[in-house]
Amino acid sequence: MAKKPRERSQLQPQTQLVTAGKDFTEHGFVNPAVYHASTVLFETVDALRGTQHQEYRYGRRGTPTSRALESAIAGLEGGHDCRLCPSGLAAVTTTLLSCLKAGDHLLMSDAVYRPARAFATGMLSRLGIETTFFDPLAGAKVKDLIKANTRLVYAESPGSQTMEVSDIPAIAQVAHDAGAIMVIDNTWSGGLFFKPFAAGCDISIQAGTKYIVGHSDAMLGAVTTSEALWPHFLEAHEELGQCAGPDDIYLALRGIRTLEVRMQRHMANALTIAQWLQERPEVERVLYPALPGTIGHELWQRDFTGASGLFSVVLRTQNLDALSAMLEGLELFGMGSSWGGYESLALPFYPKAYRTATDWAVKGACIRFHIGLEHTDDLIADLEAGFARLNAAS
Ligand SMILES: Cc1ncc(COP(=O)(O)O)c(C=O)c1O
Repeated sequence: MAKKPRERSQLQPQTQLVTAGKDFTEHGFVNPAVYHASTVLFETVDALRGTQHQEYRYGRRGTPTSRALESAIAGLEGGHDCRLCPSGLAAVTTTLLSCLKAGDHLLMSDAVYRPARAFATGMLSRLGIETTFFDPLAGAKVKDLIKANTRLVYAESPGSQTMEVSDIPAIAQVAHDAGAIMVIDNTWSGGLFFKPFAAGCDISIQAGTKYIVGHSDAMLGAVTTSEALWPHFLEAHEELGQCAGPDDIYLALRGIRTLEVRMQRHMANALTIAQWLQERPEVERVLYPALPGTIGHELWQRDFTGASGLFSVVLRTQNLDALSAMLEGLELFGMGSSWGGYESLALPFYPKAYRTATDWAVKGACIRFHIGLEHTDDLIADLEAGFARLNAAS
């Protein structure tokens, strides 16, 4: 018999991930059915009018398949409930639109996923919502940027690309003291290694596209909220017409079962590669909070129980042709957006181009690595050959 959710919350994370959403399975099958649905039929006019309860009312408003994943993610994040969106970015924009109105002020970390930033400076600005970007390392000093109309504080930790670890409990305290909502993009931790609600967040967003799906074959976003914010968020999610495709939801449900196992291997592999990179003469700095001696390591140790496979390095060289020679010849590391799949990736990035609240004083070329599930000996050999090309072209 499937356990009830309350009992399930007492289980270890691995067990929770394996058993989550089982209330939505039928006929003894291990996995929930994939409902391809728009119309749902009603037996009575009262049920149609809503005066008589009917669990499912319309495909966009949820099916047993979507509910199974939502309950699994809400349990993983430690929040009240969750709703899905067709992408991680849609989860970001739906969250911001659900909480903000004209005349509000948004405080956003300078190190968030760049399209989240573009949404704030673009559409939110056109809707009359002002954004101030804050230093991701500011901690409680974020207080200095609070205004009378600050309604929401938005963070992502570690920061996109530059990997700063923010003091989320301190920032959440400032937000709450000001009567504002604390939101985090928790994609890096997969929801496994950082518990946002325990750290004081009111809403946690994940691009399920990354570690939950885990196989680079589906797009998905998830928003989990506290109980207090849930009714309001649910209304906005429905008003905005958000939902996700059934097959993508199923792929995410399949992915979440192995999340813990994959994350442990991503972390172990990433630590091996990061340590190796730290010793390379071509590398000026490794930006991976799980690595002792790197910036943010102490905060990471305090607030996280593990690390994903995503980190960055700053090279000594500024020669972009040499960087291209290195990256273009890699055989195991692909070059492309996204991360969180089973495969390794290497992506050049240029934070100076968009940061505004913090002076990104780094001179060398930057690479973001996603370390996949390949054997680290093979990855190191690929990188070693890459550095040989970099040096030859420098
Ligand atoms: C931290 C973070 N949040 C959100 C997103 C957006 O997710 P999606 O690509 O599913 O829209 C990304 C995508 O790279 C991301 O890295």
